Amino acid sequence: MASTPTAPQNDVTLGHSYDGIREYDNPLPGWWTWLFIITVVISPIYILYFHVGAEGRSLEDQYLAAMDANTRKKYKKIGDLTPDSKTIYTYSQDPEWIVVGQSIFKVNCVSCHGADGGGLVGPNLCDENYKHIKGVTDIYKVINEGVAGGAMPAWGTRIGNKNDLIMVSAYVASLRGSKPAKPKGPDGSPIPPWSPD
Ligand code: HEC
Repeated sequence: MASTPTAPQNDVTLGHSYDGIREYDNPLPGWWTWLFIITVVISPIYILYFHVGAEGRSLEDQYLAAMDANTRKKYKKIGDLTPDSKTIYTYSQDPEWIVVGQSIFKVNCVSCHGADGGGLVGPNLCDENYKHIKGVTDIYKVINEGVAGGAMPAWGTRIGNKNDLIMVSAYVASLRGSKPAKPKGPDGSPIPPWSPD
C-alpha cells in the first residue's frame, strides 16, 4: 500500500510484523534526543541541589521564607502587639492573620501536636478540654514559658518575636472546635468558650 510520508524516512524495517503492521527503523528527531540527554545530565545536579536537605533550598523552604518576609511586612501595618485577651481573641477570629499563626505552627509545633492540632506527643488542641488553659492569655503564657518541665518547650526565646507568639496563640485558639483527622483523647477539663475579656 502506498503512503505519503510526512518526514524523510529510511526504508529499513525492524523486521517484525504484528498483524501485518511493520515498523520502520527511523531515529528520533535530533532535538528530542538532545532534550532527553540534557534532562538526564541535569537531573542528578537538580537532585543534589534541591533534595539533600540543605537549608533554604527546597521549594517548601523558599515558600516559608517568602511567607515570612510577607508577614514581617504585614507586622509593620499593625505595630508591636500586646498579648492581652482582646488582642489574641480578635486575631483568632481573623482569617487573614490565622494563616500567619498557622505557618508558625507548621514550622514549630506539628511534630508534637500534629499537622491539624489533633495531638501526638502533645495534647489535642482542637477539643473542649485543656490542661493549663482557662482563657486565651493562658495559651500565650503556656507557649511563651512552656509547661511540664519542658515537655512542652518554652517558645518565648526560640521564636523571639512577640507578634509571632501572639499569632500562633491566636491560631491555637482558632483550632478549638475544628475536626482533626486523628484526634487524641481529651486531656484536662472542659473550659468556657473563648472571650475577649
Ligand atoms: C516537643 C514536643 C512539643 C512541641 C514541639 C510543642 N509542644 Fe505544645 N505541648 C507539648 C506537651 C507534651 C504538652 C502537654 C504538657 C502537659 O502535659 O502538661 C503541650 C501543651 C501545649 C499547650 C497546652 C494545652 C493544654 O491542654 O493546656 C499548648 C497551647 C501548646 N502546647 C501549644 C504549642 C505550640 C503553639 C507549639 C509550637 C510553637 C507547641 N505547643 C510545640 C509538647 C510540645
